[in-house]
Amino acid sequence: MQYKNGPKEPLNPVQKRAILIEALSYIQRFKEQIIVIKYGGAAMVQEEFKFSFAQDVTLLHSLGLRPVIVHGGGPEITKAISTYGVETQFIDGLRVTDLQSLKISEMVLSGQVNKEIVAQLNDAGSLAVGLSGKDGRLIEASKLQHKEHDLGYVGKIDHIEPKLLINLLRDGYIPVLSPIGMGQDGHSYNINADTVASHIAAALKARKAIFMTDVAGILKDKKLISRLTSAEAEGLIQEEVIQGGMLPKVRGMIYALKQGVGSVHIIDGRDHHALIGELFTDAGTGTMLTA
Ligand SMILES: Nc1ncnc2c1ncn2[C@@H]1O[C@H](COP(=O)(O)OP(=O)(O)OP(=O)(O)O)[C@@H](O)[C@H]1O
Ligand SMILES: [Mg+2]
Repeated sequence: MQYKNGPKEPLNPVQKRAILIEALSYIQRFKEQIIVIKYGGAAMVQEEFKFSFAQDVTLLHSLGLRPVIVHGGGPEITKAISTYGVETQFIDGLRVTDLQSLKISEMVLSGQVNKEIVAQLNDAGSLAVGLSGKDGRLIEASKLQHKEHDLGYVGKIDHIEPKLLINLLRDGYIPVLSPIGMGQDGHSYNINADTVASHIAAALKARKAIFMTDVAGILKDKKLISRLTSAEAEGLIQEEVIQGGMLPKVRGMIYALKQGVGSVHIIDGRDHHALIGELFTDAGTGTMLTA
């Protein structure tokens, strides 16, 4: 199997064995454990990263872990919306969604992006199934009130019904979920994918939630913060160091930890195979948030 961006000098047999042995304790620790992965940012858009993501997920599935993928699709939605001549507006990292934008968002997320990811995973040897939050009443949502702003059909999560996910995981499938919820009124709501990933992780009592994005992790003065507590993160939100697209991620991570998720991480989706690096080696990358 091809290893993208592998070491320039081939590893000698002793190094290769050492790596496998290092992975052993992690494989044993995470076997049968649910790992929620938020797939977004650069890793999802650039062709070269899509392949290594599919390989990573297939590897952890093959080793007996239970990955659940929640995906975003911001850039694709923006592209599709602009072809209809509609402008996209963001408030605090949240996309303002009128009825037309909602229809395009749902089409792009559940129709295009979701099925592409499912195809890539299955092509790499996985057994993935695509869903939206409407399937099996997975995500019940209602209109999000955000300060004084009207964000249109942007939803907040009222309830997660994890039964369908639990059944799929039990039967060996990898659920791939688009961040669309359904209101009691039968309406669709566009929900931030980080928020969905953290609520899904909480409802499944996941062992880990990993957020793949287009930066190295949480940055302050352009420097990576490798580890911080929820209280420190709240402080960085107050100072507006954490803002925009990082806000729903960090808020979701704090929520997931409170709800009993084992550990939460942000990793760089531009780093090939960062996912298996995070799970199976001693050298964690990115940012880890603790309670
Ligand atoms: N303190 C911070 N450290 C790092 N990034 C930050 C910080 N504050 C804000 N950001 C922004 O958050 C962005 C990541 O969130 P963004 O919503 O853009 O991507 P994503 O959630 O990975 O993908 P998608 O929204 O498509 O699912 C970064 O590219 C950066 O611009
Ligand atoms: Mg985002």
